[in-house]
Amino acid sequence: MMKKDFLTIRDFSQDEILGTLELATEMKAHPQNYASVLKGKTLAMIFEKPSLRTRVTFDVGIHQLGGFSVSLLPMEISLGKRESIHDVAKNLERMVQAIMIRTFSHQIVVDMARFASIPIINGLTDYSHPCQALADFLTIQEVKGDLKGLKLCFVGDGNNVAHSLMFTGARLGTHVTIACPKGYGPSPVAFQYATEDAKETGARIEVVHDPFEGVKDADVIYTDVWASMGQESEVEARKAIFHTFQVNKQLMAKAKSGAIFMHCLPAHRGDEVTDEVIDSATSVVFQEAENRLHAQKAVMVQLMK
Ligand code: CP
Ligand code: NVA
Repeated sequence: MMKKDFLTIRDFSQDEILGTLELATEMKAHPQNYASVLKGKTLAMIFEKPSLRTRVTFDVGIHQLGGFSVSLLPMEISLGKRESIHDVAKNLERMVQAIMIRTFSHQIVVDMARFASIPIINGLTDYSHPCQALADFLTIQEVKGDLKGLKLCFVGDGNNVAHSLMFTGARLGTHVTIACPKGYGPSPVAFQYATEDAKETGARIEVVHDPFEGVKDADVIYTDVWASMGQESEVEARKAIFHTFQVNKQLMAKAKSGAIFMHCLPAHRGDEVTDEVIDSATSVVFQEAENRLHAQKAVMVQLMK
């Protein structure tokens, strides 16, 4: 069912995404049944940016499936500088059974997938974060049930995480509203893709510039850091632009009653979200973080078995 690679949610049909969520749910309930499905297989993990969740969940995940991981940091392989992407791919395909990459330009994972005969998994690029979106929709399904017709409002920067949430909502029939300052919306091409995909499912994909308008009737309020990895020099400028987009108690009160709070983490408490919200009973952020493990185990089984 799955393709060779897991690069963006858009590469998969609704049935394939729902199938992966179903497998993740089954694997979460009965992990012992999958303890040796990837026996002796190795995952290389290339990190050009920092990580807590992605690193730990892929590492623990592959071990729980009977395999091993090798972690490669920027100073070790210096992708594209010490050695070309092509040559790294051609080496690694003879040594490991799949590669997970976290990097800057999305083109790097696309090129790697083209050059390598083994599966490539996107562990975050500047453009998208599909593993995160898979774990997020698994979490929403656990808490809310049927995903179709729910409304998710992403409050903040129209970034990689926002893109992947739009792509997944569009495929699964979940309405996605991005509430962002003017000039900080999703990339026009990502918005266009999501809008096209949404025609098939009836999902409403929209961008608004008033957070209070955005969260109206929302079942899920989602936020992320205002400055992503690679935008460190913009931190202060962005604080000034985004401060009215903070998810606080007042904003949560305008969502549908029973709405949950989500964040891919790491969170900058006091900026995009207050302690009061992230530590409240409506917050599912740590369940969401745990689900990275289960969602990615399902992806690895499908690609590497
Ligand atoms: N959410 C997420 O991808 O976390 P890390 O950056 O810590 O991997
Ligand atoms: N948008 C964030 C997500 C981190 C998981 C970033 O790219 O830094």
